[in-house]
Amino acid sequence: MNRKYRKTVIAGNWKMNKTPSETKEFMTQFKAIMPKGRWCDIALCVPAVCIPAAVRAMRETRVGIGAENVNANASGAYTGEIAANMLVDAGCKYVIIGHSERRAMGETDADVNAKVLAALEVGLVPIMCCGETLEQREAGITAEHIAMQIKLGLQGVSEDKIRKVVIAYEPIWAIGTGKTATPEQAEEVCESIRTVVRKLYSSKNARAISILYGGSMNEKNAYELLAQPDIDGGLIGGASLVPEKFVQIIEAANQPTV
Ligand code: PGA
Repeated sequence: MNRKYRKTVIAGNWKMNKTPSETKEFMTQFKAIMPKGRWCDIALCVPAVCIPAAVRAMRETRVGIGAENVNANASGAYTGEIAANMLVDAGCKYVIIGHSERRAMGETDADVNAKVLAALEVGLVPIMCCGETLEQREAGITAEHIAMQIKLGLQGVSEDKIRKVVIAYEPIWAIGTGKTATPEQAEEVCESIRTVVRKLYSSKNARAISILYGGSMNEKNAYELLAQPDIDGGLIGGASLVPEKFVQIIEAANQPTV
């Protein structure tokens, strides 16, 4: 982290977990133990049907609610889909885009790019995900693969909008497996992402953008991961479903930075 130049963001990704009633229950417990300090931004990205309950429960707090997907089109005949302006009207501040679980369902880099542009258009903060498979890591093409995902995902994002984008590096082999990347492995890739942003935009923008790590981040390994200079927060799956664990990760972000 580097609080001097950029925000630290601790974001939960609930995936397909919790009903609206369970959301209400979680939020009550979470609010009761939520740290008062403001050392990081806090986001909870929840299933679409849970958004109203989450927004209602967190109204008087600084926790931003987010969605886990968005359709790139503004409106129209897209049965079952949700447009970016609907998320804003429902009270969302964030949206996860291009999670590897969605890419596995067929989402392409071009889709990710269109969704990032749609989110920025309405003022949502896109949390754009990238990450390599174990095969790609073992073949030594992690940096190239990630650079390609970042370049394609950010196409057409203007100089004045790039700072609104949050990037999440999530090695696919670390998601939900309990196999966290080491702080060194995660730092290496997050640093390389910042270099890609520097080349695409400028040093100032690269310095200002928040890059998160995700993949089995939990209350035990968060401190060490967040201590890395280019890891500006976390995108947390499993551990964000338990209020105590999520709070401990938020607390781990309360550490001295350069
Ligand atoms: P995990 O998920 O923390 O359960 O590994 C992270 C994610 O997929 O965002």
